[in-house]
Order: sequence, then C-alpha cells, then structure tokens
Amino acid sequence: MVQPSLSSSTTHLVDRFGRQLTYLRVSLTDVCNLRCVYCMPEDMTFRPRHELMTDEEIITIVRLMAELGINKIRLTGGEPTVRPNLVEIVRQIAHIPGIRDIAMTTNALLLPQLAEPLARAGLKRVNISLDTLNPHKFKFITRWGDLDKVLAGIEAAEAAGLKPIKINAVVTRGFNEGDVVDLARLTLDRDWDIRFIEVMPFGSEADFAQSVVVSSQETRERIEAALGPMQPVAGHDPRDPAKPYRLAGARGTIGFISSVSEPFCEACNRLRLTADGKLRLCLLRDGEYDILTPLRAGESIEAIKQAILDAAYNKPWGHGLPDGVIPTSRLMNQIGG
Ligand code: 5AD
Ligand code: SF4
Repeated sequence: MVQPSLSSSTTHLVDRFGRQLTYLRVSLTDVCNLRCVYCMPEDMTFRPRHELMTDEEIITIVRLMAELGINKIRLTGGEPTVRPNLVEIVRQIAHIPGIRDIAMTTNALLLPQLAEPLARAGLKRVNISLDTLNPHKFKFITRWGDLDKVLAGIEAAEAAGLKPIKINAVVTRGFNEGDVVDLARLTLDRDWDIRFIEVMPFGSEADFAQSVVVSSQETRERIEAALGPMQPVAGHDPRDPAKPYRLAGARGTIGFISSVSEPFCEACNRLRLTADGKLRLCLLRDGEYDILTPLRAGESIEAIKQAILDAAYNKPWGHGLPDGVIPTSRLMNQIGG
C-alpha cells in the first residue's frame, strides 16, 4: 500500500493494510444526562467548554475529512442530544459535499422534542441505547434514567421516519444478562434491529467491565433457549459488526457485537473524532492525533489534511484486548463508542 499524499493522486484515507476509511464517528460532547454503570462514574467531571470543538470547528473538520473520502458520519457523545445547536450542526453537515449518510447514537431521552427537527435537518437514522425493558433495572443501570422516556423517544424517532431503528443493548452480568430475552422478543412484532454488545473495558471502569462481560455466544444461547432458533439474515453488509439473525416469523432482527470474543477489526472502516478534536484511530487503543490544536494555531488546511492522511495510514490493525492491552486514557463517554 502506497502512503497517500496530497501531492499524488491518492488523496483518500486508506491505511497501510489497505482498509479504506470512509466512516467518521464524531463525538459532540462528553456530557451525558445518564450515568450508565459501565460507562462512567456517578460523580463524573466533564471537560471545560473551551476544550471542546466549536460548531464551526466541527463543520470545518468534517468538511476536510469529507474531502479525504469520508462519506458517512455518526454523531455520538457522551449524549449528542445535549449539545446546544445540534439541529443546526446536523443541517450543516448534511450540506457538506460527499456526506451521504448521517446517523446518531443516542439514549433517546430527548428525542420526543428533537426527532422531528433532526430528521428535517438531514439526520437519517438513530441507534438507541437500551439495556433492559425492566424500569427498575433501567434506573439501576443508568443510575437515574426513566425507561418510559426512552420508549417515548423510540416512538418519536419512528414517527419522524428515522429508519431503520437500531437498539443497542450492552450486556453486563449481574445487571441485565437475563433481560436479553425480553429485548429479543420485541423483534417479533417490531421492525427493529436489536444488537447485543459485549461490554468493553475502558479507563477507570475497566476492571468493572472485565468482571461483568457476557459473551455473545452465551447471550445467543439464552435467547434461543427461550424463543427458539434464529436464522442468519442474507445480504448483510460485511462492514457492519453485527451479523443479523431472525427469530421465526419475526419482523425485526437480532445482532451481536462481539468486540471482546470475536474482534471484527479486519473490516474496520472507521475513524473517530473526539469532542476535544483528537482523531482516534481505534476505539480500543489509546493512540490519538490532535487536529484541533493545529487548526486553532492557524496551520494551513493542506498541512492538516496531510497530517490526517499520515495518521490514518498508521491506523493500528486491531485492538489488543486478547493480549491484555486495555485503553486507559479515556472513558467511553469521552470517545463516543
Ligand atoms: N462497553 C460497550 N459498550 C458501551 N457503551 C458505553 N460504554 C460501553 C462499554 N464499556 C455503549 C452504550 C451506547 C454506546 C454509546 O456505547 O450503551 O450504546
Ligand atoms: Fe450516557 Fe451512553 Fe454513557 Fe449511558 S452509555 S452514560 S447513555 S454516554
């Protein structure tokens, strides 16, 4: 693989393993209106505002990433809906040439008021985090969340035409490993894609996460024992980490994101931009490249683009969880998943 350079014909983001990087996940804030046990401590302190990218800086960076071949954006957090001016940010990203798809990962609490304006601004779809249908457990896992508000948020997303609806459930032992059956049952009459995620270790919550991991295999067996066998769904996108399955007669699908037990790094097409303007090359490795500081220092856009091409070229092959290498510099809410 030839290292891409702005002065040659290869100006697209590609790494030294030949993976084309076309998908950028942009964290808009580290702040969240919940405190999920596997994500952050209850007394979490957040970054001061001046360390975060301004709206204008976000648009500038996304525009230059689009010029380098990024065509899909996912907005994440913390919780992206708590960012002021979210609708305007979405509208501006939707107008950037080359951006074909804008999605968002959210806890859905604020979707009743935001789903409709976001859809009108150009948001295509949402992934909603929901780990249980039991209101008491939901409150326990999120430390203070109200399940009814999330369910209202999902309905608002559907009503606004944000489709397909994907639901992400992180499975943690002792919290919700048995609740996967009720979540999976939802697919029988809802056209939703429910994805069960193995909990991943990060920063100060790493020990906790490692002690509560439930393998996708175990979750799958639990669902099939209760609801019958699942069949693989044909025609799935190999870059989607969740291979979909369907219960007999079900409208929706069930997927498993097995970052711990079966890493899917080979097909990785992602880069991440943290809310403080660092390009993170792998979710589960600490290596980052600072874009915001040179941008604020007035470096030329061409120099910044070349540096991004160089950083992306060095994207690590995969994460080191199997060898015990755990990311320690940031918590999940500071990366954005
Ligand atoms: N492991 C796996 N998933 C996590 N999320 C947050 N923390 C973790 C973790 N430690 C998920 C949330 C949400 C998305 C933003 O990331 O549940 O779906
Ligand atoms: Fe907030 Fe998502 Fe972290 Fe839960 S997992 S605290 S909803 S950022």
